[in-house]
Amino acid sequence: MSKSAVLAQAAEQQVVLQLDMLNKIFNAGTPLQNHVLHDISLQVSRGELVALVGTSGSGKSTLLNVMGLLDVSSSGELRIQGHRVQGMTEQQRTQLRSESIGFVFQFHHLISAFSVLDNVLMPLMLRYGKPSKEQIAYAEYLLNEVGLAQFMRQSTNRLSGGQQQRVAIARALVTKPALVLADEPTGNLDTQTADEVFRLFERFNVEHQCAIVIVTHDPRLSARCPRTIRLTDGRIVYDGPSADLPSLFV
Ligand SMILES: Nc1ncnc2c1ncn2[C@@H]1O[C@H](COP(=O)(O)OP(=O)(O)OP(=O)(O)O)[C@@H](O)[C@H]1O
Ligand SMILES: [Mg+2]
Repeated sequence: MSKSAVLAQAAEQQVVLQLDMLNKIFNAGTPLQNHVLHDISLQVSRGELVALVGTSGSGKSTLLNVMGLLDVSSSGELRIQGHRVQGMTEQQRTQLRSESIGFVFQFHHLISAFSVLDNVLMPLMLRYGKPSKEQIAYAEYLLNEVGLAQFMRQSTNRLSGGQQQRVAIARALVTKPALVLADEPTGNLDTQTADEVFRLFERFNVEHQCAIVIVTHDPRLSARCPRTIRLTDGRIVYDGPSADLPSLFV
């Protein structure tokens, strides 16, 4: 293989998420038809930290759900770590999602009947059944990293909102995903707690080199992401350095 072909292949392997001319139409062909995403093309590479911003209803959650294989697009191409999603069976999509993607939602969806540790282990238990010693040790390590080691054996309902969100982050990272998608993970937290939670994303992004796409309405937080993608009415109107985002968009 030529040197340039090797370099091109190496660059390709760094691309975690690739969208080409992706469209999403809800209720297609009915009077309720709603064309929400228009010709979305973008790439996210290993180690990137990207803010996804836009006014309410601009399509951020819809886009994140399609990227995260929780919903399917109406047309266009989506690749996760080089795997073409179109044409996959539901089972293949589920497998790709559980191998490659960690999700953090605004409302953390923890299960209060289980301990903090078991909540973090949940994605592994769903995939492999009983977790191994190494997997438990990694979950404990993550809980230590997010400052919750002392709560490990407790139920999640004794934790504060910020602590619960940190459990949800540890749960999203326990499978060591190449891509972390977070939909307003700090949306219902006070400023200081939001800062702490955001710092965790920054740290894991640097330390584990996972690609992170984070939806936020908080301009202070999006400014801390090197790259911002801005949606307006389901179209990308800006994709570039956060520092260069035209001020009329902020
Ligand atoms: N399941 C659905 N069926 C029909 N329309 C939907 C569905 N989900 C979302 N929409 C529509 O898609 C558009 C974009 O919604 P979306 O939730 O992606 O916006 P958002 O940018 O995440 O907004 P917010 O900042 O309020 O969370 C809205 O017009 C919404 O009504
Ligand atoms: Mg949303």
